[in-house]
Amino acid sequence: MPVLPIVRLGHPSLRTPAQPLPPALLARPEIQGLIDSMVETMRDARGVGLAAPQVGEELQIFVYQAAGPPEIPLRVVVNPLVTPQAREVAYDWEGCLSIPDLRGLVPRHPRVRVQGLDREGHPLDYVVMGFEARIVQHEYDHLNGVVFLDRMRDFKTLAYFDEWEQYLGGRSPQDLDDTAVG
Ligand code: NI
Repeated sequence: MPVLPIVRLGHPSLRTPAQPLPPALLARPEIQGLIDSMVETMRDARGVGLAAPQVGEELQIFVYQAAGPPEIPLRVVVNPLVTPQAREVAYDWEGCLSIPDLRGLVPRHPRVRVQGLDREGHPLDYVVMGFEARIVQHEYDHLNGVVFLDRMRDFKTLAYFDEWEQYLGGRSPQDLDDTAVG
């Protein structure tokens, strides 16, 4: 499946609420092909998540996967509803494949419930925590025209990758995979 171009901030797809996918269309080759291409595109870009609007498709589909640790197996989520399971928030670093090179501290709920459909149309209903909850909220935001910059509470933590690495993150390269970039 082809790797797709990832649209960047300024492209209207990133600011347009995505449409639900009629479940009857899920089995269509063009939709299954789009999902395969999204997975390939995410892996090629070394991201941990990708939402359909990031490849210019205003549909409620996102994919995510992380090599870890902790390893997060590939998930495909269609027509999601993401609900916080706790009032508190936790801050951690995020980046976005559609906002290349920037990192910032973003508050997210540490535990969320995910409901939706998998790529075969089977219902999904599960609870995720920590890093996976962060990825899910980042990708879910993309389906609502929201990017991580909108969630930041203090732009003083916004930094280019090299400067973040040097002055803010203080992390070794293998730890960089822990940063939610979707
Ligand atoms: Ni993103």
